[in-house]
Amino acid sequence: MEDDVFYKELPKVELHAHLNGSVSVQSIEKLIQRKPELNIQQSMTAIGKGQRRTLDECFEVFKVIHKLVDSQEDILMVATDVINEFAADNVKYLELRSTPRAEKDTGLTKKNYVEAVIKAIQQCKEEGVDIDVRFLVAIDRRNGTEVAMETVKLAEEFMLSSGGLVVGIDLSGDPTVGRGRDLLPALEKARNSGLKLSLHMSEVPSQREESELLLNLPPDRIGHGTFLHPEMGGSQSLVDRVVDRNIPLEICLTSNVKGQTVSSYSQHHFKYWYQLGHPCAVCTDDKGVFCTELSQEYQLAASTFGLSRGAVWTLSERAVDCIFAGEDVKQQLKQKWTEIRPGLLKLPESKENLL
Ligand code: IMP
Ligand code: ZN
Repeated sequence: MEDDVFYKELPKVELHAHLNGSVSVQSIEKLIQRKPELNIQQSMTAIGKGQRRTLDECFEVFKVIHKLVDSQEDILMVATDVINEFAADNVKYLELRSTPRAEKDTGLTKKNYVEAVIKAIQQCKEEGVDIDVRFLVAIDRRNGTEVAMETVKLAEEFMLSSGGLVVGIDLSGDPTVGRGRDLLPALEKARNSGLKLSLHMSEVPSQREESELLLNLPPDRIGHGTFLHPEMGGSQSLVDRVVDRNIPLEICLTSNVKGQTVSSYSQHHFKYWYQLGHPCAVCTDDKGVFCTELSQEYQLAASTFGLSRGAVWTLSERAVDCIFAGEDVKQQLKQKWTEIRPGLLKLPESKENLL
């Protein structure tokens, strides 16, 4: 079986996908046609092959996309498209995350925003799209204590009313802006009400103190964690705490390389954690902005770090253990993996691992 086919057909779990960062070229084109007056070109919303940007420039790209996606109708459209695109890449379980926004011009409220995402998830389900989708409500660290608290309240409301679709909170946004310390009360409240926590952490150097505070919560998963380990200016005690609590890392290779927080694929911290045998879920972060797909990220992980197909299979299967939905969903997904395995890995596991 050709490599491309193998990685496409590999059943996958996507745990770190920002909605507006995941919008594809096709959806961007539709949005541009809807809003020609904005004078936005597709090249302003994506970072192509071989291109690099500073983290600052990446955050400017999100601002452009936010101008294009500013109504309930737009959110419903992009969420539907993104879900279908992940499903076409054989992602069987997806946790989408997004920051609720209010837009005066279109009358969009934060509540409408979340409703639109939930509607997209429900509609895809009704149409029989083969993917289980959940939603993490995102806190943008830029906006401080009060907004974070409001966001948590919104997430709590929807956790109760969405039939299990809202499962957690994401902490994201420009890591060089805002203080993690200010967001602790909101994050604690979320955790106490049963929302899971996925926190972007140590995405840039010199966040040791903040990472220590956030690890005390503790989070249920870590986004990036690039600078946690001692070789990257972190510390052994941070690593020990992540390992002792067995907190999975969400690994986004292309995002980190294109955003230049990591100098090259081979220097990516995935290697450090994978060699420790620590749970790592390969993810895309922003498949639209960084022009990638989850199948491509798995293929890059394998080619960069010399993983056999058997090892890649195990990596995708272990990501199921890191999902925020309940035990019943985990079991259903494991069953799916078991059914798909013989068609994809023709050799016995022991031999496949030697390839
Ligand atoms: P949205 O929340 O659906 O609007 O997705 C875009 C947002 O996700 C950005 O404005 C950031 O707040 C966040 N985001 C996307 N990628 C990253 C990242 O690599 N680090 C931190 N935040 C990110
Ligand atoms: Zn992210």
